[in-house]
Amino acid sequence: MTKNSTSINEVSDDYDITQPAPAALVESLRAFGYSLRTAVADLIDNSISAKAKNVWARFEWDGKHSYIVIKDDGEGMTEAELVSAMRPGSKSPLEERSPKDLGRFGLGLKTASFSQCRRLSVVSKTAKCSSVSRCWDLDYINDSHEWRLLKRFNPPPLHIAKETLDGAGTVILWEKMDRVTGNTSHDDNNAYKRFLEAIDEVREHLAMVFHRYLEKPSGLKMWINGRQIEAWDPFLKTEKATQELPPTKLLCDGQYLMVTPYILPHQSKISKETHKNASGPQGWNAQQGFYVYRNERLLVAGDWLGLGFQKEEHYKLARIQIDLPNSMDSEWQIDVKKSRAKPPGYLRADLRSIGKLAREHAVQIYRHRGKVNARKSSQDHIFLWQQKVRYGKYFYSINREHPLIAKVFLDVGRDSIEPLLKMLEETIPSAHIMITSSEEPEKIGAPFEDCTYDEIKPIIESLYFSFLSSGCTKEDAFSRLIALEPFNYYPEFIETFKNQIEGE
Ligand SMILES: Nc1ncnc2c1ncn2[C@@H]1O[C@H](COP(=O)(O)OP(=O)(O)OP(=O)(O)O)[C@@H](O)[C@H]1O
Ligand SMILES: [Mg+2]
Repeated sequence: MTKNSTSINEVSDDYDITQPAPAALVESLRAFGYSLRTAVADLIDNSISAKAKNVWARFEWDGKHSYIVIKDDGEGMTEAELVSAMRPGSKSPLEERSPKDLGRFGLGLKTASFSQCRRLSVVSKTAKCSSVSRCWDLDYINDSHEWRLLKRFNPPPLHIAKETLDGAGTVILWEKMDRVTGNTSHDDNNAYKRFLEAIDEVREHLAMVFHRYLEKPSGLKMWINGRQIEAWDPFLKTEKATQELPPTKLLCDGQYLMVTPYILPHQSKISKETHKNASGPQGWNAQQGFYVYRNERLLVAGDWLGLGFQKEEHYKLARIQIDLPNSMDSEWQIDVKKSRAKPPGYLRADLRSIGKLAREHAVQIYRHRGKVNARKSSQDHIFLWQQKVRYGKYFYSINREHPLIAKVFLDVGRDSIEPLLKMLEETIPSAHIMITSSEEPEKIGAPFEDCTYDEIKPIIESLYFSFLSSGCTKEDAFSRLIALEPFNYYPEFIETFKNQIEGE
């Protein structure tokens, strides 16, 4: 033994050696918070890093004996590489990676697999060597209290034997999938249905996360149970009506990243099917915002990145692409699951102004119909406050014909509310308002400024139903709403409301 190394049995006055307890650590490695779809995506990252052109996934239902196999035709691993790859923390996150590598932490294969199953087997073959295999069985680790990586599997992985590796490639097998199928029996129809739904979710997720690889003519091809996965492009780049705004280059950690906003077309400019498909896995509203890619692999699919913007229906057409190289991982706090990216503080102001611009464009497109409706409306605008002159002096009064006031009169009786209205009219701080608006006009807020749709919706709803109960048709009620101050400034809110009502 060399002078500097210390065996477990060796006693030192300076330190103790405390090896992580295998059984306990394994359970912690299972708790990174993957879902089935993010876990499968993590394996496919590895296939792409290994230059695979094809990935075949098989989800086989057999109750608690169900299993998942993922096979690729990448470069594969030699025996030494495989043993190293199976080790949790196989590479240091600080190590420089090739620009096309999708890995960072040396953990994904293990953490993703253990999050879903208790038995992970890998068979791999390089062009020059014959195939090699290894298996982590968590129950065996628990029983042996040691990180024993199995060379011979017991029982043998029959499911893998069905897969042949002709040239080079890798096969991953997940068995004992306690987190996916649990202890269900083969005949449990509900569990089977959930399994099929999970496959659909995985398919949808992979179509989105790897769309840029799948879109390339000679790029990656993926199959699940024999069905090829088609790319899902969040930006509808092939649609003529999609607007691409000029990209911005931002300097980050000595390198440039690229930000490209896309404004998706108004519903009326694309087919119904395209519109439905473009809504994405989480739906139109949730899918707005920034899309962060790392080496063209999607990490974050529609998020305003904590820049102070809300997800609002009328901004839903704004989707903004951010392209990061893998050398910015620590600046952007990329996590093991590759599902988080947080912009560094010094980029926030620039990203905010790009976001704001994209949102302004998006609301213009969204308003398209709202504006037309507002123009079509034959109603005169109705105001809540009216200016009156009494004995040569100005007073402000509340319009008793305003639909909201008329509704309150009906609901609680005019006599009980009239004293409050009178008090409001007599005590409105008009002098104060006048001084502020002449001295600091830019500091006077506009009606409902910075309010979200959800905050305004109850008011719109109440007005809408009072119009209906006073005998208006639905169409009339919508055009009266648009003519009503301050909604005449916010036709998009009425448009959103209309869409919701019509969708019910
Ligand atoms: N399908 C595969 N083909 C070839 N090599 C693979 C494959 N899967 C994993 N490997 C090898 O195993 C190593 C460990 O993979 P793992 O996913 O655990 O970590 P990583 O990809 O390096 O980093 P991260 O934790 O960020 O995913 C990889 O670096 C790669 O060398
Ligand atoms: Mg990986």
